Amino acid sequence: MSNHGKAKAVSAGKYKDNADFARKIRSGEFKIAVYGLGHVGSPLASVWLRAGAHVIGVDKSPEVLENARKGSTHVPEPGVNKAFSKALKENRFFVYSDPIRASHDSHFKLICVPVLLTDSFSADLDAVKQVAATIGRGLKKGDVVSLNPSVPPGTSEDIVVPILEEESGLKVEHDFYMVYNPERIYEGRAIEDLEKRYPAIVAGAGAKSLEIGAKLYCLIAKKGVIKMHSIRTAEAEKLLEGVYRDVNIALANEMAKFCESVGVDFWEAREAANSQPFCHIHKPGVGVGGACIPVYPQFILNIARMMKVDCNLTSFGRSVNNSMPAYCVRQAMKLLDGVDVSKCTIALLGLAFRGGVSDTRLSPTYKVIEELKKLKVKQIRVHDPFVRSDANLPQDIILTSNLSQAVKDTDLVILISDHPEYRNLTQEELDSTAVYDGRGVLDKSRFAAGRFASIGRPS
Ligand SMILES: NC(=O)c1ccc[n+]([C@@H]2O[C@H](COP(=O)([O-])OP(=O)(O)OC[C@H]3O[C@@H](n4cnc5c(N)ncnc54)[C@H](O)[C@@H]3O)[C@@H](O)[C@H]2O)c1
Repeated sequence: MSNHGKAKAVSAGKYKDNADFARKIRSGEFKIAVYGLGHVGSPLASVWLRAGAHVIGVDKSPEVLENARKGSTHVPEPGVNKAFSKALKENRFFVYSDPIRASHDSHFKLICVPVLLTDSFSADLDAVKQVAATIGRGLKKGDVVSLNPSVPPGTSEDIVVPILEEESGLKVEHDFYMVYNPERIYEGRAIEDLEKRYPAIVAGAGAKSLEIGAKLYCLIAKKGVIKMHSIRTAEAEKLLEGVYRDVNIALANEMAKFCESVGVDFWEAREAANSQPFCHIHKPGVGVGGACIPVYPQFILNIARMMKVDCNLTSFGRSVNNSMPAYCVRQAMKLLDGVDVSKCTIALLGLAFRGGVSDTRLSPTYKVIEELKKLKVKQIRVHDPFVRSDANLPQDIILTSNLSQAVKDTDLVILISDHPEYRNLTQEELDSTAVYDGRGVLDKSRFAAGRFASIGRPS
């Protein structure tokens, strides 16, 4: 059990009967169903497949199901396609569109559907509720259910368990087991993260659920599991990870702006400061996107509002980070120095919320576009090496994966996502176009004086 000191992981070796469990999983006697084959579900399914399990993949999207049946996924996550294809050949990977049948046919059910925000900034739990209801209809004695998305504390016990009990007529801890395991992955290296990088966090609806959950996750997490005293604490743990990063990025943003205004290079100062072991300043940037970091603080703030608890720092961090797209656009516009923007063409580099991924959810690029539209810029082009189409972009925006085409005859380029492709850009490739680096990744010495500015660097 974790105590007030350092959280300690329990290693697989603790469970002497795990060999029998592993045998049942490999023989298909104990089948696993993964609900939601997205950024989290497909690597998680892959990890179980790589451990020799028999896995049923379930999704509501016909396209995702069709891809999975061919052994592929829309999520560009290393190792997933290989794991799917190999297990299809070995007849260990099954793709179902019927979630109730998947529950009937499986013994361990993993809920990996998204929990984003409603328009009023509370957690949108609709997909979790739908999946819980269908799992409940196929639930059997001895089954184990695991909730994996990041959720507001109380979701497993107050929402998921009651749905499962009502739909199945079974009782948690007596007839079936409920586990919470928040995913700790960084897109682009998810399989490695799940298998090797971190211990798995596991909590249960009671002592039996916790024991069985710990045994299961010990089979895939080489660093073992951290067993938590309560599901609520485990749910809060994951939100704390996100809030820490959001507030830290807000601090980096504030300090970057301060450094710019006093003529100091923030990046050099940060590197030196972080050489001190108590200092871990994150990176500033044009905005915080993705389905995680900007979302989790809102779960906390929403509950804090209801409970009348002050979470001012969390709230302020969000506002600082939300203000960054507009700030960066203002800074970038200074490079145009009085030119009539209604005659300007601007290229935005990157639509993915960060470099190296194709995920566009809550990408700061959308906010930069909104700001540029307010200024009535003549034409906006968006380049991304991984995103080929995007229904969320306004109709008049040109999206291309051809970089030279994107930057040709533009007045200004704004770097938004730190895709590795952009790092070696030079002024020569851009003619006289001005460049604003919203991630601080470009080498200033490769650009003409007066034509370049960057977050965190004195102009
Ligand atoms: N993406 C990350 O890096 C990451 C990291 C850690 C935790 N998480 C957590 O995991 C959650 C899931 O995120 P994701 O990135 O995998 O989402 P995603 O959108 O990539 O994938 C979710 C999948 O679930 C499917 N789905 C949605 N509703 C469904 C339903 N009712 N029935 C069956 N399938 C359904 C979708 O079609 C999609 O394929 C997030 O909300 C977040 O809390 C995400």
